[in-house]
Formats: sequence, structure tokens, C-alpha cells
Amino acid sequence: MLQKLKELENEARLKVKNAESLEALKEIKIHILGKKGELTTLLRSLAALDPEERPKVGSAANALRLELEKLFISKEQVLLDQSRGDKWSIEQIDITLPGRQASLGQKHPLTLITDEIKEIFIGLGFQVAHGPEIESDYYNYEALNFPADHPARDMQDSFYITPQYLLRTHTSPVQIRVMEKLAPALPVRIIAPGKVFRRDDDATHSPMFHQVEGLAVDRDITFADLKGTLLLFAREMFGPEQKIRLRPSFFPFTEPSAEVDISCIICEGEGCRVCSDTGWLEILGAGMVHPRVLEIAGYDPKQVTGFAFGMGVERIAMLKYGIADLRLFFTNDLRFLKQFV
Ligand code: FA5
Ligand code: MG
Repeated sequence: MLQKLKELENEARLKVKNAESLEALKEIKIHILGKKGELTTLLRSLAALDPEERPKVGSAANALRLELEKLFISKEQVLLDQSRGDKWSIEQIDITLPGRQASLGQKHPLTLITDEIKEIFIGLGFQVAHGPEIESDYYNYEALNFPADHPARDMQDSFYITPQYLLRTHTSPVQIRVMEKLAPALPVRIIAPGKVFRRDDDATHSPMFHQVEGLAVDRDITFADLKGTLLLFAREMFGPEQKIRLRPSFFPFTEPSAEVDISCIICEGEGCRVCSDTGWLEILGAGMVHPRVLEIAGYDPKQVTGFAFGMGVERIAMLKYGIADLRLFFTNDLRFLKQFV
């Protein structure tokens, strides 16, 4: 019986060694280890043996089964590698095929514009500051001189989280946060880019949009400094011929206040659909920091003055790239997004 096992083993090893394909190997495996295979049949005949001999032969047969299973697995691996290798060697030969282009992502147009805005102001000596998107009523309104029932709050219809907390409606709260930290140190010169939220939704208004706040506080800062800074910004952003126009406006936290327009990029001031035939387009709100705001934030309004502005990033991107609908920035259609580099 042991002799038979030995013969079976030799035969199996030889066959496996010579197997040339996975199919052939499978055949051999069934033939030996399968339900009706040679080894299985042999094991069944153990019953006919002497009870003394049975355990010896039995354990030898089981050991052989394990041994052969391992053999099949390793041969299978060899054959698999071989068939893959064949494929590779065929494919590797054709070096004339064009490579497959890895598709790289790129910056979102709003990120590109924000980067450009930052660069211009950093060049003027401003530093970049950030504030939280969930803001307290105090920083978003109260400290900016909007009393609780002031109608100016209605200009910025808000998303409240609790009666005390809301999604910030503008980046102006960062003015307060920065001044509180720095006061009474001078000068303050920061810009604060970020997301803001309002209950708005149409072709030029989005419920989530971006602003860049600017703030400069020092001795002897005048309205002329504000105007000069904004003109320089407009020319860096839109070209050396760019004009700006300041219209009187109202914000509770600046006095006097202005809305700032640039001459229409599309028609160069002639008047067109985009600028509603006025030749001008609004890009930001600005003004001299209100004395009460300076005081709240820890500065003496008799000693220092300051200017502030807040611009809409989407609006600037729309003008710069000639885009008529702001919602395109947020629907993430790659055909749109891929046009900006
Ligand atoms: C403000 O938000 C003031 N905090 C700006 C400011 C800062 C004034 C500092 C004075 C001193 P206003 O609500 O006008 O102002 O918004 C500023 C700019 O944000 C607008 O000129 C416009 O470009 C943009 N904007 C406003 N609402 C939306 C909206 N829903 N979608 C896209 N852009 C908007
Ligand atoms: Mg406005």
C-alpha cells in the first residue's frame, strides 16, 4: 500500500511538472485529488487493510494529499505568472502607441481669482487673515454697529443656526476679530478672503458666495488712501486703462460709505446688457471705518482712522472672464471648469 502511494506521488509530480496550461493542470488535479481521483479511491480502500496497518497508511496518504495540494497551488501560480508575462511581453513591444494622459486637476476659477486678489494686496503690504464661517450675532452685526432691530440687517437676509449664531453674511466680522487682537498696535493692514452666506438665489446672487474684506487702520488714513488703493487694485486686476467710480452708499460700520463701480469690461464703458447700459459695474462696498466700530474694537477714534472694503469674488470673476451666470461656478461642469488656467 505504501508502495502504491509512492508510485502515485511520483506520477503526480511528473504530470504536474509537465503540465503546460492551467486547463491541463486542472485536469490532472481532478484525476488525482478529485472525488473519483486516484488518491481518493486509494484512501477508500483503507477499510480493507489490517487494523494495525491502517493508521500508518492513513497518515501517509493524508500527508501526501496535503503535499500534492501545495504542489498544485505553486504550479498554478507559475502558470498564471507565465500567461501574464506573455501578455506583458507582447504589449511592451509596441512602443509606438501614444501614452495614456493622466488627467490632472486644476484650480477652480474662484480660487484663481482669490489668489490674484491676494497677490495684489500682499504686494501693497496687507496680510491675509481668516475668521469663522459660523459667526456670532455680535461679530456679524452688533460690533459692526448694526443694533438688534436696525433695518440694515434686512439687506443681508441671513441663515440663523440659533438666535445667537448664524452663517456669516459678509467677511466684515473679521475686521473686528483682527482689531480686537491687535489693538492698540498700529498699523492694521489685512485682507480676509472667505465664504459668506445669504438667502439670495439668481443669476448674479448665490446663497453661498465669496468675499474679500480689506481693512487698513493707522494714523492719518484718509478717504484718498481708500480711493487710491482701490484704483490701483482695479488696474492690476483689469488693466491699466481701468476707471473706477464711487457712489455714496450706506453701511452701519463705515462713514462715509461708498459702492464702487468699475467701467464695464465688456463694452468698455459704452453701455451694454451686462452693465444695464450704464457703462459701470458694481464690484464692492467700502468706506471709512465708523468711529464707533474703532472704539468697540479697542482703538481710540480720536487718534486713528481707517478704511475698509468688501468685494464679491464671483462678481470679479464674472467680469474678468466674461461670464453671464454666476451659478456656473457651482454646478461643477468640467467643460466649464477646464477653461480656466
Ligand atoms: C457688504 O457685504 C459689506 N460687508 C461690504 C463692506 C465691507 C462695506 C467693508 C464697507 C466696508 P454688500 O452686501 O454690498 O456689502 O456685498 C458686497 C459685495 O458682495 C457686492 O458688491 C457683491 O459683489 C457681492 N455680493 C453680495 N451679495 C451677493 C450674492 N448673493 N452672490 C454673489 N455676490 C454677492
Ligand atoms: Mg452692495
